[in-house]
Amino acid sequence: MRIILVGLGALGQGLLGHLGEQADSLLDAYGLRAKIVAALDTSGAVVQPAGLDPAVLLRTKRSRGGLAGLQPYFRPGRRALEIIHTVDADAVVEVTPTNILDGEPAMSHIRGALKARRHVVTANKGPIVLAMGYLTSLAEEMGAILRFSGTVGGGTPMLDLARHSLRGDRVVSIAGIVNGTTNYILTRMGEGLAFEEALEQAKKLGYAEANPAYDVEGTDAAIKLAILSNWAMGTRLRVTDVSARGIKEVTLADIERAQAQGKVIKLIARCDGKVASVQPELIPKTDPLNVPGPLNAVTYTTENVGPITLVGKGAGGRETAGALLRDLIDIHLRSK
Ligand code: HSE
Repeated sequence: MRIILVGLGALGQGLLGHLGEQADSLLDAYGLRAKIVAALDTSGAVVQPAGLDPAVLLRTKRSRGGLAGLQPYFRPGRRALEIIHTVDADAVVEVTPTNILDGEPAMSHIRGALKARRHVVTANKGPIVLAMGYLTSLAEEMGAILRFSGTVGGGTPMLDLARHSLRGDRVVSIAGIVNGTTNYILTRMGEGLAFEEALEQAKKLGYAEANPAYDVEGTDAAIKLAILSNWAMGTRLRVTDVSARGIKEVTLADIERAQAQGKVIKLIARCDGKVASVQPELIPKTDPLNVPGPLNAVTYTTENVGPITLVGKGAGGRETAGALLRDLIDIHLRSK
């Protein structure tokens, strides 16, 4: 499978790590030979139709000179759309930072790739929350496959579970913790740390969005809830349909009071198919959604089985890159 990798931040680098380390097992287990034929960051592109060694690419990206050090393959200033249209590839992995206002530049990259009949894997929440319906129809029309399991839950397969493991059943409601940063902050506040200090740590640990206001104000969770509900329940929620309140007003005193009642305060995203909200809620300590640190958790209540809870890491480059890899394998197996 020839891959164009658009974006070399933590996530793109995480994917390169997996592809380098697991090259043999991917070939043995799935017959997948993943070849990076082009990779881009804001400085330009490296292009090599025979495939770039992921370990070398990673080392060069992390070196002081960046991609320019990968001669003779470096092409300064090249833009993703140009590469998508001119370099022969089977799939495009889009991992530029999320922009929820208009989804750009990822929206153009994904649309351009699908129109060129390339499969697309992305963890970019912007285009998916703004245009999941349009982009999935476009993929179908072009005979391409679009996968985005890393948009919610990081590496934890929340979207896959809802769609693939619950066949014949129906999700009737969703409740979850889908933002690792705020869960980390609330957990640390429960240990007595001040909000600002906990936020600083979440930033250092790489959990927070480029703009951490998206995390603390509940926007990131609202985006993920909309993606999750639209995917698992067939709703057509926009981010603005989710009434979202973040954790800024939660005080250490609130948290202590909750603890005294055997409860915890968590930022819970909920949708029952009609009403969708993100807000701090008091839940019993014994609730399966009471997960610590940056963990995410989702409870799907289904018609046949009742509540099913999935818990796992919801942020982090290496973890979320695991979802990109799963999606690539899925595409490889489906398009064989
Ligand atoms: N800022 C996000 C979080 C990263 O904390 O969950 C994963 O989308």
